[in-house]
Amino acid sequence: KRVAAARSLDDLRRLAKRRVPGFVFDYVEGAAVTEQAARDNESAFARRRFVPSVTESAAGASLTTRLLGRDHSMPIGIAPIGLTALMRAAGETDGVRAAANRDVPFVLSTMGTRSIEQLADAAPAARRWFQLYLRRDRDASLALIERAAAAGFDALVLTVDTRVPGQRYRDDRNRLSMPPRLTVRTAAQSALHPAWSLDLLAHDAPAMANFGPRSGSVTDVVSSMFDPALSLDDVRWLREHWSGPIVVKGVLSAVDAERFVDAGADAIWVSNHGGRQLDRAISPVEVVGAVRAAVGDDVPVLLDSGIRSGLDVVAAIACGADFVFLGRGYMYGLMAGGRIGVERALDLVAGETLSTMQLLGVRTTAELRGRGAALLAPTG
Ligand code: FNR
Repeated sequence: KRVAAARSLDDLRRLAKRRVPGFVFDYVEGAAVTEQAARDNESAFARRRFVPSVTESAAGASLTTRLLGRDHSMPIGIAPIGLTALMRAAGETDGVRAAANRDVPFVLSTMGTRSIEQLADAAPAARRWFQLYLRRDRDASLALIERAAAAGFDALVLTVDTRVPGQRYRDDRNRLSMPPRLTVRTAAQSALHPAWSLDLLAHDAPAMANFGPRSGSVTDVVSSMFDPALSLDDVRWLREHWSGPIVVKGVLSAVDAERFVDAGADAIWVSNHGGRQLDRAISPVEVVGAVRAAVGDDVPVLLDSGIRSGLDVVAAIACGADFVFLGRGYMYGLMAGGRIGVERALDLVAGETLSTMQLLGVRTTAELRGRGAALLAPTG
């Protein structure tokens, strides 16, 4: 219906905003401190200008992209998101089924609202990755990754930009907690969004499924459990305990990227967490070229933060990324229309990506990466 009529992620965002209470939309949309990094992520993409090569044929173009030993239908995956059932009660179940239907990777967060095993049952054929926040209690982290391996998760994503919680003032003002605590304000907001409230009532109260029983403000959970001492040694330690690919997420410097690869990482995920951790952090699209140069052509470079259209996807790949991930874009689809909304989000961005590649005179994502420098105007 309305989701099918959406022409862009921005249309889905508008539908999403209407469907969920303000405190939920704030959790998705918000970022750290002044939210400058989040704004910069979008403007860094919007500043890029393309130089098409109209003497090249664009017939037979395809988005198929190989990543970590497997082909995907498009160079776009679903980023890890915490507290997903707050946005839509079916939570990650809807997300992973959409990912399976579109043949793209889905990353389950440590802070997710479906367990590792529930997610495997929901979509056995999906390409599932597990995102790890390293806990002070290393044995607890080890237990999680052993479960992920047993449940058929392919890759481990270690997020390194969350040693301490981001300062997200919107969530503080809304007194965001897990499970959601009703205040006068959030109760009033929920009453104004009956479709969202009924959906939530029909399911179990959203809880962080991979943590065991735990409640409190999200900031308190993060600061009490995550380890500010995370270091390169932890990547070496994970390397001993995880036999599949290790992806390090949250890298913004070429030097760090090289060090992580030396420590055993198989891929680097350039990200500033959508501006939700270090405010005024540089935008990934500004550094991905340097990261690519540092790690060479054979190490996959992934990117997120600020992707809102296929134009952004093309710019990211032309700048040196192999693959991109949607964080808020996925959430807009999920909030607007569950599984179908997520599929719509992926389809819209894929359609824009393909059309942009063809207008540029490029037929494959590998070619886009190889010829990227010639297809972008120098940035001033
Ligand atoms: C996130 N992100 C995130 N990352 C992570 O490694 N573990 C997590 O649990 C979460 N949780 C989370 C919740 C919400 C609501 C958002 C919006 C983001 C960060 C996410 O994986 C990704 O890096 C960013 O969302 C990318 O930026 P865009 O696409 O949102 O601009």
